[in-house]
Order: sequence, then structure tokens, then C-alpha cells
Amino acid sequence: MTDKTSNAMWGGRFASGPDAIMEAINASIGFDRRMAAQDIAGSRAHAAMLAAQGIITDSDAEAIREGLLTILSEIEGGSFEFSTALEDIHMNVEARLKALIGAPAGRLHTARSRNDQVATDFRLWVRDQTDAAIEGVTALQKALLGQAEAGADWVMPGFTHLQTAQPVTWGHHMMAYVEMFGRDAARLRDARVRMNECPLGAAALAGTSFPIDREATAQALGFDRPMANSLDAVADRDFALEFLSAASICAMHLSRLAEELVIWSSAQFRFVAMSDRFSTGSSIMPQKKNPDAAELIRAKIGRILGATVALFTVMKGLPMTYGKDMQEDKEQVFDAADTLMLSLAAMEGMVRDMAARPENLRAAASSGFSTATDLADWLVRELGLPFREAHHVTGALVAKAEARGCDLPELTLAEMQEVHGEISEGVFSVLGVDNSVASRTCYGGTAPAQVRAQIARWRELLG
Ligand code: ARG
Repeated sequence: MTDKTSNAMWGGRFASGPDAIMEAINASIGFDRRMAAQDIAGSRAHAAMLAAQGIITDSDAEAIREGLLTILSEIEGGSFEFSTALEDIHMNVEARLKALIGAPAGRLHTARSRNDQVATDFRLWVRDQTDAAIEGVTALQKALLGQAEAGADWVMPGFTHLQTAQPVTWGHHMMAYVEMFGRDAARLRDARVRMNECPLGAAALAGTSFPIDREATAQALGFDRPMANSLDAVADRDFALEFLSAASICAMHLSRLAEELVIWSSAQFRFVAMSDRFSTGSSIMPQKKNPDAAELIRAKIGRILGATVALFTVMKGLPMTYGKDMQEDKEQVFDAADTLMLSLAAMEGMVRDMAARPENLRAAASSGFSTATDLADWLVRELGLPFREAHHVTGALVAKAEARGCDLPELTLAEMQEVHGEISEGVFSVLGVDNSVASRTCYGGTAPAQVRAQIARWRELLG
């Protein structure tokens, strides 16, 4: 077929074919060929159901089945010739089926429309990606758990405002990300439950007068049930928006972790050494080892969130039911899914390979007056000071240490007593970073015992 003849699928009322520009803006085969396997699975389920219901003959259904299997192997083998004139994956497959098996091919589209077909294919595709994303997130969580286990009691500075706040443990910091990615996986799982309903059988929009069995096709394609409203079935793209939204939040978490790796691997911090496998060099500065993968992951949120905003913008204000606008859904979701999968894999590799430097973590934790809160708490506990006053006294001690160019444990008892006469020798027991973290034993706190309990819980959950 060329663009000079009318379309064999819908050209009955057309005297001429489309303008080349029309064809260019209309065609989706350049990208929706990625849904070929899902399209063929949907058609196989539909044809089998049509035969079981006596709507087409068994022999036609068998010819269709065999033809579709041939097409699948042609596509997988790279010999299938995609045609832009045939617009999309649905019509490319159907035209090839006609060439292969002749007349029975024309019966496949009975009681079906491209509107329910594309909604079904796309759901199946997004469902696969949701499963793959959950797997990717889980693998990353396991890499983080490995890091947490190695350094459950390594002391490092905890930050607020990127200023040293209180000592925490490396394991605790790693486990914070395990929690975040755990919620990301849970969001994807929730979305999967909602998306797992089958649009097939909604036909163009109103359903069909043929005696189809929607339960059967839903079941054959692994859906929990058919969608209950045919208008909604062809019009809905919530499932894609939910996937993109969950992907965006996950990409945001990846971006935050990536930023920490960039900071931590810098010569100023030296908290971690990134492996050569996930670093690059500079073409001019021989000493450089750059955390390019982390920087790229830090940026990828832009594409994923961009896709999310793009699809929301496409969908807003669309009247019921299908509009060709909705063909703009796929490239965004494809790109976002590819980007998320690559980012997860790269982050998993980086986390698995990176080597924390416990001595540098400890040195950083021991500076910056990180145990000032412990000191204030001691004044409350031991001297009965109101916390506000203790805060003030501690502030004066910090100022004294700063003026002397030392940290809190280096102040002498006499110097401390100049600020508050009742301070006694016992105070030194809370000024060390190990005591500080070990004391934070409340549920969810940074004490190594708590961190190990959380690691064990997650090991159990992730298997
Ligand atoms: N390629 C189309 C899409 O992705 C398939 C559905 C076309 N439906 C129609 N009524 N023209 O949305």
C-alpha cells in the first residue's frame, strides 16, 4: 500500500489517501511497535474467545492463531516490515495477518475496536514495566542493605541544612533509603492492583452486540476482571499516570541519593570511594575521577517528571471517550520507563560497588560540635536544668570551644565550669560520638542495635 491509495482498514468512504504530512503526524508505528507482543497476545485472546462463543469458526480461529504466532516470530527475528502507511502496530499486524492467512484475518476485528485494543495493549505493557520497576527497586534495596550491614555501627555526621547536626550511623543512613525505596515499590504494587482490569470488549466505546465473554479474555491476559464501564475502559489512562507518578517519586529519591554520592565522593568529603566501574575520567585533568553516573541519575528526574507532566497535560480537559490526543501517551511512558530502569540499575551498581571510608566518616562526625545536643540533654538529666537553659549553656560552651579552635570533648572541666559551675566530670561520657549514637535507642533511632533490628526486618521482607 502507498499513501496514494485509500486505507484498506478504514478507507471505504475515502477517495484518496492521506497527505504525506497527515501520515507523518498520524502514524504511531515508529514507537508503538514496542507493544507488538502485547498486541499479539491481546489478539490471540480475543480470537480464541470469539471461537469459544461461536462468533467465528474454530478453523478461522486456528488460522488466526497460527498467523499471529508467525508474525510474532517475524517481529522478534527482525524480518517484519513495518509500514508507516498502516499507521500503528494494530493495523500493521492485521495487514500482515491478511497477507499470511487471507480471509479469516478479516474476522479478527469482530466485536473489537482499536480503542479497546490499544487500551489493552498499553495496560499490558505498563503492567510489565511496573513489575520490572518493582524488581529494580528491590535489587537496589538489597544493595543498600549490604552497605548497611557492613557499617551498622560506623559513625558519621547526620546533617540538617547540610550542616553537621548529630552523629548517626552509616547503617542508619543507608536504611533511610531502604525505607524510601520500600514505599516506592509499594506505590508501584498499589498501582498494579488498580491497573489490572481489562478494557477489551469495550469495543469503540459502547460495548458490542456480539455475545462476547469479557471474563474469558480478561483471564487469558492475566487481568483480575474486565473493566465495568466501556466508556471508561477506552478513555482511561490513569494507569499510565499512576505508573508515571510512582516513577517520578522514585526518581526523586534516586536523585537525592545520587546527590549524596556526588558530595560524599568529592575530595572535600571523602566519605566514599566510587568504583572505577561507575566513574569516568577527564580528558584534560589526569587526576579526575568523576561520578558521572550519579550526576546523570540526579538529572534523570527531569525526564521522568517531564513525562508525567506531559501526560497529565494531554489528558486534562479531554472529553469522553477516546481522542487521538491519547496516542501521545506512549512515547512519554516508554521514555520514562526506560529512564527509570536504567537509573535503578546504575544506582544499584554504584551502591553495591562503593566503598565507604569509616575513618573519614568518624573524623567528620567528631567535628562540628556534633554532640552538642547530647551535652544539653546531659545538663537537663543530671543538673535538672530546663531544656531552654541547657540549650543556652551549651551554646556558650560551643562558642568557647570554637574560640579555642577545639571540639567539645577537648574542653577542660575547668573551662566548662566557667560557663556553669555544676558541670562535673561525668559530662565527658556523653561527648564522644560512639556514646551519642549508642544512646539513641528509641524505636527508629540511630543506635546500632536499632539499625540491626531494621536490617533484619528488611532482610526478612525482601527475602
Ligand atoms: N494508534 C492509536 C493510539 O495509539 C490506536 C487507536 C486508534 N483509534 C482510533 N480511533 N483512531 O491511540
